[in-house]
Amino acid sequence: MDQAEKLRNIVKQQKSPRHISRVITVTSGKGGVGKSSIAVNLAIAFSRLGKRVIILDADFGLANIEVMLGIRPKYNLADLMFRGKNLSDIITEGPENIGFISGGSGIQELTNMTKDQIIYLIRKLVELDDMSDIIIIDTGAGITDSVLEFLAASSEVILVATPEPTSITDAYALLKTLNRKSDFSIDDTVIKMIANRLTPDDDGEELYDKLSIVVKRFLKLKLEYIGSIPMDNTVSKAVMLQKPAICAYPNSKFSKQIINFAEKLSNTNQEIIEERKGIAQLFSNLLKSRIKK
Ligand SMILES: Nc1ncnc2c1ncn2[C@@H]1O[C@H](COP(=O)(O)OP(=O)(O)OP(=O)(O)O)[C@@H](O)[C@H]1O
Ligand SMILES: [Mg+2]
Repeated sequence: MDQAEKLRNIVKQQKSPRHISRVITVTSGKGGVGKSSIAVNLAIAFSRLGKRVIILDADFGLANIEVMLGIRPKYNLADLMFRGKNLSDIITEGPENIGFISGGSGIQELTNMTKDQIIYLIRKLVELDDMSDIIIIDTGAGITDSVLEFLAASSEVILVATPEPTSITDAYALLKTLNRKSDFSIDDTVIKMIANRLTPDDDGEELYDKLSIVVKRFLKLKLEYIGSIPMDNTVSKAVMLQKPAICAYPNSKFSKQIINFAEKLSNTNQEIIEERKGIAQLFSNLLKSRIKK
């Protein structure tokens, strides 16, 4: 049995049928468009719908989700990977029952793992699949290799874009680069767009049409539309309070729209559930090229 096969078996062989979480990866081309704000608040909205939710911060830059949630995790993913910590050590409890995992240096260090460490990590992630219904991965800014690898390994991606021209061109550039990756296949990934920070003059659907038409014509990719969120100053006010907007300003336009999105996403089709791969499978996809070496 080769090493990649061994990895596949670890993912498969657990109790059958094993529980597999729905993994949603939030991304954008340009930074600062609202990924983390949407990830955090969507997590709480899903939790209110009775789901067990974990946010994984795959952005090893600034600790902005921690600020938004008003928490300071003691350990991160790297402590699980290399320092013998358990899942329960690295999951910090956030507001309204959501769990938070900081990627820490673990995301960068995925490239430095030995086969045994990879196998150990995948086993732990099988446990994580078992204990959560939805895992939201917040990716960092920019079109980096690490972000592209997460996207190529994901089955459900939320692409956040704003009406700024650079946000649209960067979103297109991200999808173009992703599409060129040999391990990316549109048949395995659903990409859904949220238009964020709209002024009263902007039209989210128009923005979606613009992007989806070029993406379809030149990249042969299909983009779905979730909806739009207006510019809303409660989002940054909530950051100052170190509380998610949906908790501090439950009736704001932003919060109401996030609640709509969570309901809409919860109701989306059975087919996603059937095609669900889970977090262990995602990391297994991400790491399989390495384990063969
Ligand atoms: N709908 C909105 N209305 C007003 N401000 C918003 C809205 N969404 C996000 N913001 C603000 O935009 C800024 C960037 O948001 P956020 O940190 O969520 O973006 P990001 O895409 O995660 O950024 P990064 O790429 O740096 O990780 C923050 O100041 C946030 O408060
Ligand atoms: Mg962010």
